[in-house]
Amino acid sequence: MRTDRIILSPPHMGGRETEFVREAFESNFIVPLGPMVDAFEAEFSQVIGGAYTLALSSGTAAMHLALREFGVRSGDEVLASTLTFIGGVSPITFLGATPVFIDADRATWNLDPNLLVEELAECARRGRLPKAVVPTDLYGQCADLDRIRAACASYDVPVIVDSAEAVGATYKGRHAGAGAQAAVYSFNGNKIITTSGGGMLASDDKALIEHARKLSTQARDPAPWYEHTEIGYNYRMSNISAAIGRGQLQVLGARVKKKRQIFSWYFERLRELPGFTFMPEASYGQCTRWLTVVLIGPCEFGASPSEVRAALDKENIEARPVWKPMHLQPVFRDCRCRGGKVAEDLFERGLCLPSGTALTEEDVDRVCRILRGCAHQG
Ligand SMILES: Cc1ncc(COP(=O)(O)O)c(C=O)c1O
Repeated sequence: MRTDRIILSPPHMGGRETEFVREAFESNFIVPLGPMVDAFEAEFSQVIGGAYTLALSSGTAAMHLALREFGVRSGDEVLASTLTFIGGVSPITFLGATPVFIDADRATWNLDPNLLVEELAECARRGRLPKAVVPTDLYGQCADLDRIRAACASYDVPVIVDSAEAVGATYKGRHAGAGAQAAVYSFNGNKIITTSGGGMLASDDKALIEHARKLSTQARDPAPWYEHTEIGYNYRMSNISAAIGRGQLQVLGARVKKKRQIFSWYFERLRELPGFTFMPEASYGQCTRWLTVVLIGPCEFGASPSEVRAALDKENIEARPVWKPMHLQPVFRDCRCRGGKVAEDLFERGLCLPSGTALTEEDVDRVCRILRGCAHQG
């Protein structure tokens, strides 16, 4: 076995991060909050088109605050993508509300707007509208936000986009999440840019962001002593993490380019393999290809996704299954799901290939050699 492991999507520093971290150390702002956090919020706001921003300890924290800002509470329902990671969904339950899942659209792998229309109509018939809708921008590709927003606008239901995986992606020329009532981003270590761990809440609503800012710092009221009229959290981003984020933002454009280049390398080498297809790119935007994701039909290809994953692992290469749909998670077994078969199929046949932006063409060749070896013709 080779010792130089190829990891799915490891952090990749751009170079300026250590300068910003040194500056933070020299100022002794080794705390949550500080000038790096302020600057990171301002710079990220520019990247996403000018929304108000709040830097937080994680994307999960950002979603928790967003849902709370829209008044989600015990007994409420929130509609969400089933094909996603739990971090965007678990905060619904932190507030005592219940997620209702919506299947993916095969053309984009994101929340199916037609099913959303159906579900909203049924909720209205029952006289119980959801408190919010949370579509995920999956694997760097935006959900069809205009159609989702139009469906929700008819019932005055807010849209909170989970753009945790879509920093750098665009939808009709706008940045992922822009134009929704709120959007959530993640800078976890595996994301296209990282702060080692962190998240951002964004909204065009200044008052929403300012109140979320208060909640993120233990909901402290303005008084010389610690005065509290509501319960908050300790969710702020550290000044050191923000320093890393500022360095990372400078290379975001280059990282998007490299992610897409890696996708092209895989595509050129593997597109002819039988039973082997790639996640489609919607025509309405630019997917970052945060991860290159493929579907493998075992009969035509000659091996199942788990056999392929095992073959890669034997050669010290990490690949991962597509997210297991939320409606199949034991913890959500009692939750409703509209549709679900598309997400189940994508989970069964899907595989995420190594997509770290430090990968070389030779690394991709190494991965592709093993993939070809798994195929009938290999
Ligand atoms: C779709 C999605 N939502 C939410 C999250 C949660 O973000 P974080 O890990 O920063 O809490 C992640 C990633 O980690 C994610 O992929």
